[in-house]
Amino acid sequence: MSSKHVAVAGATGVVGQQMLRVLEDRNFPIASIKLLASARSAGKKLTFRGEELPIEVLGEDSFKGMDIALFSAGGDTSEKFAPFAAKAGCVVVDNSSAWRMDPEVPLVVPEVNPDAIKAHKGIIANPNCSTIQMVQVLQPLHVAATIKRVVVSTYQAVSGAGSAALNELMAQTESALKGEAPECSVFPTQIAFNCIPQIPHSNAFIDNGYSTEEMKMVNETKKIMGDDSIMVTATTVRVPVHTGHSESVNVETLTKLSAAQVRELLEKTENIIVMDDPSKDLFPTAIDAAGKYDTYVGRIREDISHPSAIDMWIVSDNLLKGAALNAVQIAEML
Ligand code: A2P
Repeated sequence: MSSKHVAVAGATGVVGQQMLRVLEDRNFPIASIKLLASARSAGKKLTFRGEELPIEVLGEDSFKGMDIALFSAGGDTSEKFAPFAAKAGCVVVDNSSAWRMDPEVPLVVPEVNPDAIKAHKGIIANPNCSTIQMVQVLQPLHVAATIKRVVVSTYQAVSGAGSAALNELMAQTESALKGEAPECSVFPTQIAFNCIPQIPHSNAFIDNGYSTEEMKMVNETKKIMGDDSIMVTATTVRVPVHTGHSESVNVETLTKLSAAQVRELLEKTENIIVMDDPSKDLFPTAIDAAGKYDTYVGRIREDISHPSAIDMWIVSDNLLKGAALNAVQIAEML
């Protein structure tokens, strides 16, 4: 791979920081790197490969001479600036939801639909974090037994909502432990010691009663897996976990799969770790997955209420496979 001129838009954010760490860790061949953020970060510096680099303010002209831009600066920013990058000949890998359902934009999980990347016209979308870890596990089951329906409930970490949300979790935890009333500014209600079935934390719900995060899981799963017939229903919940999304997933298949067959299929699948032994109380949790590149699966069992369905528990680092790692894997494919 020849060295690339890389821009990171949103470099100061929770995901942007992870993008820099993953680029370093995977020895991405970089000719130059440009760190972009809002005017709020002008004058600040970040370290990349041991060198202090200035943050530049993201603008229409930021992408001249750049080959690849990794965006994680929110949907509005992507919607506004990704077209300028693409016009300048720079391929955008966008972590926001702005372009994901655009029919002209590939939505890619490298382990699931790597070939989709070839059709890009300058912008490639990185899927929703909860969707990535789920489709990674669904794909081998779909190939083996054709998935008919998926019922998923998520337990999503606060880091997925950005740095202000993480600060709020920490501040509220401290206040609650001191017996003081926690202050809410990011989340609609207290997140410390609580669970909130509303993602995102504002303007979440649409006419059918679902949240937009839930509909992302429904629509993105079909697009990534290239099969509109897969029925998905989701309930997405924010929990007071720092990093690592967990999911309870029920999968109904056309052909019956035993729990042993599912274990065997997933054990053979790249970047998935089966951590599942009820006799030893072994299952993955968010803390096991945080900081790791793999997606973990446990609690695999046959659904006693259905002749052909499997229940399981899927856990992954929402900032890594759910965001930065998947984006860097796409960039590596480019
Ligand atoms: P900044 O730090 O300058 O606000 P998080 O998800 O952790 O909250 O991070 C969001 C990221 O997106 C940050 O890097 C933030 O930069 C960046 N960002 C937000 N709005 C803009 C904008 N209008 N232009 C450029 N970067 C933005």
